[in-house]
Amino acid sequence: MPDKIKIFSPSTVANVGCGYDVLGFALAGIGEEMEVSKRDDGQLVIDEIIGFDLPKDPTVNTATVAAQALLNAAGSKQGFSFTIKKTINPGSGMGTSASSSAGGVFAVNELLGRPFTPMQLVEFAMEGEKVVSKKAHADNVAPNLLGGFTLVRSYEPLDILQLPVPEVLYVTVIHPQVEIKTTDAKKILKKQVDLSIAVEQWGNVGGLVSGLYESDYDLIGRSMVDKIVEPVRKILIPLYDEVKEAVLDAGALGCSIAGSGPSIFAFSKGESTALEIKALMQAKYDEVGILAYSYMSKIGKEGVRAI
Ligand code: HSE
Repeated sequence: MPDKIKIFSPSTVANVGCGYDVLGFALAGIGEEMEVSKRDDGQLVIDEIIGFDLPKDPTVNTATVAAQALLNAAGSKQGFSFTIKKTINPGSGMGTSASSSAGGVFAVNELLGRPFTPMQLVEFAMEGEKVVSKKAHADNVAPNLLGGFTLVRSYEPLDILQLPVPEVLYVTVIHPQVEIKTTDAKKILKKQVDLSIAVEQWGNVGGLVSGLYESDYDLIGRSMVDKIVEPVRKILIPLYDEVKEAVLDAGALGCSIAGSGPSIFAFSKGESTALEIKALMQAKYDEVGILAYSYMSKIGKEGVRAI
């Protein structure tokens, strides 16, 4: 059994428009790296976090909190050192806390000889998510650990389904540099939903899932309607309506808030449209002088992995 491992943990987009707290997908090639090695003193220690100023306290960092949940379940007193290389700043909506939560449990599980399945790892990674959002949601960590698209059919008991990935479905993400904390973005949501709105919402969730199964790009696009969360959260995101209207006019299949924002994502059929959408999104923020970073990738079929 190896004593150390280097892993890549993808960024993820949760909610996917209509599926608040239940739908999510992984990006391909965009994410963070982590090196984890065994230590003899039984401690969890974060040696270094490269890229952003994040807590190294193991009781607060999502990587170590999640890893500790795994160790508790395994009854293991093994210690580990972590070096985390972040590429995207926290509060982006691109699942950065989940990348660390999932990365931590994946690495530790590998170094312990894989006592747990990827599906079991989701529960431990959710403990990391609880640290940042006060709620152990799985819509980021599930696609991170399992790859592709995932649906949390039920939280109690936890029941997660993997959904198919249409071959030429591309995603573009723009990340304007304003921080939105998931806890705040959750607090502002209404606790009650009108039945007529709920009917529209679950119709769209079903349509989106069906669209993924059938590789029906138009159905995916017209199901990307969120009547519950988007109207409340979009006010926190500069240029939201303008960007969305522009990318839909330019041929994007659908567009919505990535996770709890402020990132905005759009689906496109084919790479060339996705690249045009990326340039368009970037131009919108450049025009008004708001710093923003844009990304384009296929849906990441593979989740967290050793590199
Ligand atoms: N489903 C969560 C939310 C994801 O929207 O609050 C947080 O990234």
